[in-house]
Amino acid sequence: MEMNNLIIKNAAQVVTCSGFEGKRGREMSDLQVIEGGTVIVTGGVISHVLQPGEPISVNESDYRILHAEGKALLPGFVDPHTHFVFGGYREEEFSWRMRGESYMDIMNKGGGIVNTTRATREATEEELIESGMQRLDAMMRLGITTVEGKSGYGLDRDTELKQLHVMRRLNETHPMDIMPTFMGAHAVPEEWKGKEGEFIDFNIREMFPLVSREQLAEAVDIFCEKGVFSVEQSRRYLMAAREHGFLLKMHADEIVPLGGAELAAELHCVSADHLLQASDEGIQALAEAGVVATLLPLTAFSLREEYARGREMIDAGCIVALATDLNPGSSFTASVPLLFAIACIYMQLSPEEAVTAFTINSAAALNRADRIGSIDVGKQGDLVLLQFPSYKFLPYHVGMNIVETVIKRGSIVIKN
Ligand code: NIG
Ligand code: FE
Repeated sequence: MEMNNLIIKNAAQVVTCSGFEGKRGREMSDLQVIEGGTVIVTGGVISHVLQPGEPISVNESDYRILHAEGKALLPGFVDPHTHFVFGGYREEEFSWRMRGESYMDIMNKGGGIVNTTRATREATEEELIESGMQRLDAMMRLGITTVEGKSGYGLDRDTELKQLHVMRRLNETHPMDIMPTFMGAHAVPEEWKGKEGEFIDFNIREMFPLVSREQLAEAVDIFCEKGVFSVEQSRRYLMAAREHGFLLKMHADEIVPLGGAELAAELHCVSADHLLQASDEGIQALAEAGVVATLLPLTAFSLREEYARGREMIDAGCIVALATDLNPGSSFTASVPLLFAIACIYMQLSPEEAVTAFTINSAAALNRADRIGSIDVGKQGDLVLLQFPSYKFLPYHVGMNIVETVIKRGSIVIKN
């Protein structure tokens, strides 16, 4: 029997999410489900997607067989926005928030991202690998098979590189695929207070060439926010990043409506993320430009903020994706079950739209929809098998992990 050869037989549903690019608007409702289907992975790649009764044309003795009667099979989940490599925790800040202090107040008094930056600078590479590994294990048990991870808790040359090296080593040693993003402009560190423009210049002049030369990141991201980085600074930073060939991402319109969505559309970013406060014009611009609108309901939930207008964005023709935003501050969770529940219950996505948003559309947010995010011949054999016969149980069984088996490139990596 070859490694990475697997037949998943007679699944109650094969939820293919079929496609090779992000889906917009009404396309998000069509999951292209095959009831009673069979999927064959050969050498780690999906080689056959069979209707019930279609003959299996490979030699079954070369394959491991998984019987999937009564269970739904989906593409592995893709989490396109996290900050999973960090030192320290911020449980005190959570208590302060529960007493009424705002996320930005806490940031302005030296807590928030800068607090985690101190702890991340102090942590060794080994410590970050160890905690990163545990977080990846937890995400994989929830069905995530590809995760994006950002730097941005170093905010100096060496610690930013340390975070990116940690992701590189984890990508090499852990079955999870990691897509690294450089986020040198995540916050203004103490030593650059009042010199935001110069800090942007430092990232453009010193960091982009370094990160690009060592191929440590595929994308670049910035926190475009009142009191952090302005629209003008974000434009300058992102346009310089594009010169190095990076994909562009933005934390846009999270706390204050600044025009982040409009800028993301203007620059044709691969995604604009958060968007709690995006304007009507911004939403329309994202739809027209085909920028993926990545929504992070666990953050809005944790910060007790209004949710992004996911329903309206889909109706406006946007490509909507979902992500956990796992980080030690605004969203210390990678709970996929809660993500599905909130997306459906509070953002009014249908279960079908939520599944599209966390598979093929989240793959599109990483520019990887040609390789992952659906069950199509030629795609990587990353799959999840649920304990239940329908994808509809994902939001319905609130807060419960119903993932039974996780398959990465045709190998079973998790049996819950
Ligand atoms: O996506 N908004 C900025 N960045 C993160 C939070 C990071 C943190 O609080 O440590 C976010 O919410
Ligand atoms: Fe974030």
